Amino acid sequence: MKLAWLLVLLPTALGRIVSRDSASSTCKHLEATYPDLTFFPLSPGYIKANTDFYTSSAWLGPACVFQPTDSRHLADAVLLLKNTSTPFAIRGGGHMPIANAANINSSGVLLSSFGLSQLKVSDDHSTVHVGPGNRWADVYKYLEPYGLSVVGGRLGVVGVPGYILGGGVAFFSNEYGWASANVVRFTGVLADGRVVTAKPNNEHADLFWALRGGGNSFALATDFELKTLRVPKVTVGMANYGFGVGEQFIRSVHDFATAGTKDPKAAVIPMAEYLPETGTVSYSAILFYNGNNATPAALQSFQKPTLTPLTNTFRYRSMNQWSQELDGAVGLLKGSRQRFYVLNIHASRKETIATVHDTFVEVAKTSLPIGVVVAAMAFPQVAEQYIHASTVNGGDPQDLDPDGAPYIWVEESITALAAVRDEDIDAFYTKVNGEIRQKLLADGVKLPEYTYLNDANPAQDSFGTFPPDNLARLRKIRARYDPDRVFTDLMPGGWKVS
Ligand SMILES: Cc1cc2nc3c(=O)[nH]c(=O)nc-3n(C[C@H](O)[C@H](O)[C@H](O)COP(=O)(O)OP(=O)(O)OC[C@H]3O[C@@H](n4cnc5c(N)ncnc54)[C@H](O)[C@@H]3O)c2cc1C
Ligand SMILES: *[C@@H]1O[C@H](CO)[C@@H](O)[C@H](O)[C@H]1NC(C)=O
Ligand SMILES: *[C@@H]1O[C@H](CO)[C@@H](O)[C@H](O)[C@H]1NC(C)=O
Repeated sequence: MKLAWLLVLLPTALGRIVSRDSASSTCKHLEATYPDLTFFPLSPGYIKANTDFYTSSAWLGPACVFQPTDSRHLADAVLLLKNTSTPFAIRGGGHMPIANAANINSSGVLLSSFGLSQLKVSDDHSTVHVGPGNRWADVYKYLEPYGLSVVGGRLGVVGVPGYILGGGVAFFSNEYGWASANVVRFTGVLADGRVVTAKPNNEHADLFWALRGGGNSFALATDFELKTLRVPKVTVGMANYGFGVGEQFIRSVHDFATAGTKDPKAAVIPMAEYLPETGTVSYSAILFYNGNNATPAALQSFQKPTLTPLTNTFRYRSMNQWSQELDGAVGLLKGSRQRFYVLNIHASRKETIATVHDTFVEVAKTSLPIGVVVAAMAFPQVAEQYIHASTVNGGDPQDLDPDGAPYIWVEESITALAAVRDEDIDAFYTKVNGEIRQKLLADGVKLPEYTYLNDANPAQDSFGTFPPDNLARLRKIRARYDPDRVFTDLMPGGWKVS
């Protein structure tokens, strides 16, 4: 009996020791060549890279952090990690709320993008080079004096690389498509140490296509060249409607998604937040208009008298100014536990929106784990023009179906105290979304299949919802660029096309 136990335990125990040893010796090698770029526990650089995450579940404690300031350094590190079979992770802004998406424990090395923070507008101002160490707030701040913007994050705190490689939904998206549809070229390190540039029409056009939403299985991005928009200012802000307006809120979500989005310059993030402390639901919306107009017809359903804000910051200003408004508040969430789940619905039927909203609130009242501070739903829209605009330069792996548009990608997000376990939050997601699906099924409602990678729960198979031919093509491209599956097997975190 005892012997049998030993035999079972020995390989795992050995495996751990071996890999931990390989990580620490790899760290020593990195330190020998790059003493200024290699950080060990308790150094400020290490602490920042290990803890500057949206969810505290990601504070995994790597053996060391390597923070290159140049593609070549990163390529060296990749070759070393590969040669020594050392597991690793790569991080950008740290906003994917999944523990190991962009970090790794002491069995591996964390590659930090922070050192690759270049920002450079082209001579004719038509594009901007953005390093993966930036957050969208950095990009908007840099572009403000040029009177430019880009199709990027709706909140400034979000990191550039994970956002773009997963697709990227922006305020401008109903006009210009995915953020990734506005990339002119990607530069990145391949698993064999080459630094390559992928464009829609060069020898790496297949890689270019894969990086428009295919995630981190193909290359480590070191530069994004983005198309700029000559948009110095937009009308943007936050409206708070308070409590007890649920029915009108649902009507407004439906009206805007089906009618308002016909004006592609308008966007709304309607939000319903259930607060377990008081058992109430608070309603708000981020309003956006690409123009100097605080009362566009398209946004009527989220303005008075339809829904009357108690407070409202909707006004004409730069994206940089907007980033500063909310990012402080998001910063206060640091150290909390965060978790996402995304539910894709057709916007056409108002009752579907009501079922999602009502069921979520009902189940939240009885089944949220103790320690949850907010259980929120956001109802952003993906309109037909979003999808058409994304077909430029060869399209993308998601290849959304325009016939089902407009969609609402309901973002369910839970904020909890750090002690709450991911498993317990996921048990709530399973229950509530199971009930929602059951009710919709009983009403004969079919849900669109596509599940957005950047908002998905780890239990959701995002790639399984891509068109099968595109998934097969993604796998072929991975086999071409990373035949040894370094960025899949040795870098296990994040969404993989395996
Ligand atoms: C507050 C908040 C607001 C958000 N708003 C939006 C929004 O408006 N629109 C939207 O579409 N999404 C939004 N998201 C989701 C967001 O797009 C994802 O969380 C995204 O992955 C964040 O990118 P990041 O660089 O911060 O992520 P990270 O967590 O650092 O990384 C995410 C993934 O990208 C990989 N990665 C990171 N850097 C690199 C690199 N250099 N090369 C290759 N792979 C890399 C990581 O390995 C990881 O798997 C939001 C999330 C939060 C928490
Ligand atoms: C990795 O191994 C290859 C061949 O085995 C060798 O050419 C290369 O220099 C090694 N690189 C590192 C960083 O150890
Ligand atoms: C690190 O993570 C791996 C993969 O999840 C796991 O198998 C291993 O036990 C962890 N090691 C430590 C030291 O926590």
